[in-house]
Amino acid sequence: MKGIVKRFGGVVALDRVDFGVRPGEVMALVGDNGAGKSTLIKVLAGAYEPDGGEILLGGRPVTFKTPQDAQKHGIATIFQELALAAKMPIADNIFLGQELTRKLFGIPFLDRRTMRNRTRQLLSDLDVHVPDMNAWVENLSGGQRQGIAIARALNVDANLIVMDEPTAALAVAEVDKVLQFIDSVRSQGKGVVVISHNIQDVFEVSDRITVLRQGRQIGVRETGATTPEEIIGLITGASAVKVRTRRPNRVPSEAN
Ligand SMILES: Nc1ncnc2c1ncn2[C@@H]1O[C@H](COP(=O)(O)OP(=O)(O)OP(=O)(O)O)[C@@H](O)[C@H]1O
Ligand SMILES: [Mg+2]
Repeated sequence: MKGIVKRFGGVVALDRVDFGVRPGEVMALVGDNGAGKSTLIKVLAGAYEPDGGEILLGGRPVTFKTPQDAQKHGIATIFQELALAAKMPIADNIFLGQELTRKLFGIPFLDRRTMRNRTRQLLSDLDVHVPDMNAWVENLSGGQRQGIAIARALNVDANLIVMDEPTAALAVAEVDKVLQFIDSVRSQGKGVVVISHNIQDVFEVSDRITVLRQGRQIGVRETGATTPEEIIGLITGASAVKVRTRRPNRVPSEAN
């Protein structure tokens, strides 16, 4: 994404933002509340049309007018709400809107067996364990649901997966599980964008970190070559910030 501009009335939500991710890389996108993170990935997902700038995919300019356009180009976005159908089994969710059919005497039937086998394979590739394949999604844990949302993204053969706050509101064990999912998506050579307020998670899972502040991109760092102190300093604009040693839910807000 080059020089992306997005305005909402008089508010400049994105001011000439440059942002990129490579295949097989996890790019973290961080910034304080209102910095423009969700707006940027909504532009990438085709949910918003930018007022300026361009999106390049494999070096070629692309225009997304709808989320379907972005999906067709292999970009799958997992929004925080996950958009899963609660009262449906797992395989139905994975294939929602793209059900497989087979014909018997010329009449199409849902190919449940293939869908279920493919779902089993996707879940096992991701090391997602569910007690019962026929369970309704609403009865699964947050971490399991996150895994299913990722499996669905992989099922449409996305080569870029974008996740808005995938670890927010999860228990510690489930956070680890989601971080493992991200790892395994990366090892399949796909690009991953992760938005997170949790600096510890960001350092655990990312290869690079992009920082937004008040709609501007103010830095990109190799994760291995920076520190939480530097990143928090970039986020808040403060020069010296004491980093909490516990897993923080949010970056310190007193420096707003
Ligand atoms: N649909 C909209 N209409 C008007 N203003 C908007 C809209 N969406 C976002 N904004 C404004 O754009 C700015 C960036 O918002 P955005 O949601 O991208 O921030 P964010 O970095 O995702 O924050 P958070 O960490 O709180 O999710 C904010 O000032 C917000 O109020
Ligand atoms: Mg947001």
